[in-house]
Amino acid sequence: MSVAAINRALAAVIDPELRLPLTELDMVGEVSIDGSHALVEIKLTVVGCPASAKIERETREAVLKTEGIDSVDVRLGVMTQTERDSLKTKLRNGKPPRFNPFGQETLTKVFLIGSGKGGVGKSSVTANLAAALAGMGHRVGLVDADIFGFSIPGQLGLADKPTRVDEMILPPVSGNGVKVISIGMFLEDSKPVAWRGPMLHRAIEQFLCDVFWGDLDYLLVDLPPGTGDVAISIGQLLPTAQTIVVTTPQVAAAEVAERSGSVGLQTGQAIFGVIENMAWLVQSDGSKFELFGSGGGAAVAERLTVIAGTPVHVLGQIPISVALREGSDAGTPIVLSDSDDSAAEVILEIATKMSKSKLGLAGKRLGITPNQR
Ligand SMILES: Nc1ncnc2c1ncn2[C@@H]1O[C@H](COP(=O)(O)OP(=O)(O)OP(=O)(O)O)[C@@H](O)[C@H]1O
Ligand SMILES: [Mg+2]
Repeated sequence: MSVAAINRALAAVIDPELRLPLTELDMVGEVSIDGSHALVEIKLTVVGCPASAKIERETREAVLKTEGIDSVDVRLGVMTQTERDSLKTKLRNGKPPRFNPFGQETLTKVFLIGSGKGGVGKSSVTANLAAALAGMGHRVGLVDADIFGFSIPGQLGLADKPTRVDEMILPPVSGNGVKVISIGMFLEDSKPVAWRGPMLHRAIEQFLCDVFWGDLDYLLVDLPPGTGDVAISIGQLLPTAQTIVVTTPQVAAAEVAERSGSVGLQTGQAIFGVIENMAWLVQSDGSKFELFGSGGGAAVAERLTVIAGTPVHVLGQIPISVALREGSDAGTPIVLSDSDDSAAEVILEIATKMSKSKLGLAGKRLGITPNQR
C-alpha cells in the first residue's frame, strides 16, 4: 500500500467532461495514507462543477480497490487560476486560444447534415448517426447549428449545461460518448432566438473554436433548414466538410433539398450523399406503404450529380419508424436501444459508409464565386 498505488488507481478515473484521466489533468492534489485510511484531494476545474458528484464517487471507488485501503476521505477543492491556465494550455495541445481545430489541416471527418425544408427528420437522423458512429468506437462531436429549432440535446437525452473553464467551454457528453453543443444550452429558457447573420456566425465560430472538443474522428453539424447565412458561415469555417442532404420522398421536398445541397457546392464543400427519410411505412402484412410518395431521394441525387459534375448517391432510405420517433422523444437514439429496427439498420449502414469515406478533401470547386459577405 503506497501513495504510488493510489495514484495508479486514480489514473483509471476519467473526468466525465474532459474524457481524460484525473491524473493526466493534474486534478489530483494531496494524497496521504494513515494506516488503512487514505486521504485524497481532487482539484476541480471550476467551483460547482456539475460532474463533481460523479468524480467524487468514482475516486472513492477507485481508491477503495487499492490493496490495504479500507476507508477513504475524498476532499474536493478547486484549481488555482495558475493551475487552470496550465491545464488549458495542455488541453489546447500547443494551439493558441480561439483556434479553429476544423480548418484545412484537420484530421477530423466533418459532415454537414442539411435539408431544404424543416421537419424532414434531419435532427433525428443526425443524432442517430452520431450515436451510431460513437457506438462503433469513434470519437464524435455534434454541433447543433439549427439555432432556430435546436432539438439535438433532447434527442440524445442531454439536459446538462456546458461547464465553462474561463473562456473554454466543455461540451456535455451523451450516454454513449457524443460531445454535443447547441445554442439551446446557452439560453435561460427555451425561447426561439431571432438572431441576425453576424451573431449567428459568431455563435458558430464560438462553437468550433472555444469548445474543448479534444481529438475527434467525426464532427457532425445539424444545419438549420434552408440556405441562409448559417450554411455560408459554416462553409467558411469548415472547409473540408462534406454535405449530406436529407429529404423526404415528396417531389416538392426534393426540389428544396436540392437547393440546400447546391449551397454547399458554392461554398466549396463536396456532397457526400442523399438520405431519403420517412421513405415508407411497413404495414402489418409486410407491404410498404409510401405515405409521402416516392422518388424524392433519387431525384435529389440525380440533380446534384448534374450540378456537382460528379456522381452523388442515395446513401439510404430510412423507413417511417414509430420506435425511432419514440426514441427521439425519450432521448434514447434507436440505433442504441433497438438496433434491429428497420430504420436503425439503415442508419447504421449509412454510418458505416461515413466511416469508410476518405477524409474530406477541400471540396469540389466549380469555378463559381462563393457568396461574399
Ligand atoms: N423515420 C422516421 N420515422 C418516424 N418518425 C420520424 C422519422 N424521422 C423523423 N421522425 C419524427 O419526425 C419529427 C421531426 O423530426 P426532426 O425534428 O428530426 O426533423 P428536422 O428535420 O430536424 O426538423 P426541424 O426542421 O424542425 O429541425 C420528430 O418527431 C421525429 O421523431
Ligand atoms: Mg431539426
